[in-house]
Amino acid sequence: MKQLEVAHEAARTGGEVLKKYFRQSFDVRTKQACDLVTTADVEAEHAIADVIRAAFPDDAILGEESYSSDVSSERLWVVDPLDGTTNFAHGIPHFAVSIGYYEAGEAICGVVLNPAREDVYHAVRGEGAFGNGERLQVAKHQSLGESLVGVGFYYDRGAMMRTTLDAIADLFEQQIHGIRRFGTASLDLAQVASGLFGAFFEYELSPWDFAAGRLLVEEAGGRITTCRGEALPLAKTSVLASNGLLHDSVQSIVERHMV
Ligand code: IPD
Ligand code: CA
Ligand code: CA
Repeated sequence: MKQLEVAHEAARTGGEVLKKYFRQSFDVRTKQACDLVTTADVEAEHAIADVIRAAFPDDAILGEESYSSDVSSERLWVVDPLDGTTNFAHGIPHFAVSIGYYEAGEAICGVVLNPAREDVYHAVRGEGAFGNGERLQVAKHQSLGESLVGVGFYYDRGAMMRTTLDAIADLFEQQIHGIRRFGTASLDLAQVASGLFGAFFEYELSPWDFAAGRLLVEEAGGRITTCRGEALPLAKTSVLASNGLLHDSVQSIVERHMV
């Protein structure tokens, strides 16, 4: 599929830009409290858009930093040039390029690349999810007592942050093996798809954070919805991803605490 090839090439190109700046000097600004953006985010996004435009000049691009487009566009590329900017800015090699391709609102294919580790994940609707070429499958865990749960904190430092902590406390009471906050939503979804996390939730994410990762989860046999169990919109939303078997139990906890 040509779109998958282009998504891979665009992710590699963006990844090269990120590697060029990683642990070097770059400008860091705050978009809003605690939400960082660096020279690398902006430059990588332009490099990615150039690759997409060269192959598909008529397609729409929605990118976190500089590209806006209607999410219902017939053919739409949803790009996070640097997911995990906070890790990147602090020199932690856990960040990603995330590129999802949608047709009339439906996810068709997606690529998530961790350039520091050279891990690449991809999925194509109806054809499965893969990590470094190996087929991905969600965890077989039937109970929370067997699972690791991933979580994300949006940039809110008020009610949403506190309710996330309350939900985590309830999850610990279910004897989960642990909570992980790795700081890169697209890779968190790849961990669910890979069977490392039984579930992952975050009370607010943007389309570019999950556009590609959602297809990884679905194609690896998992389930992804809002934290209320609704179909995931391509919009700012809460996100709950799981291996499917754990979905209802995690949902009953995370939904209870939603503001
Ligand atoms: C962020 C990361 C983080 C999540 C935040 C996102 P960014 O994306 O995915 O894990 O908790 O909600 O905004 O800003 O680094 O692209
Ligand atoms: Ca992001
Ligand atoms: Ca970003």
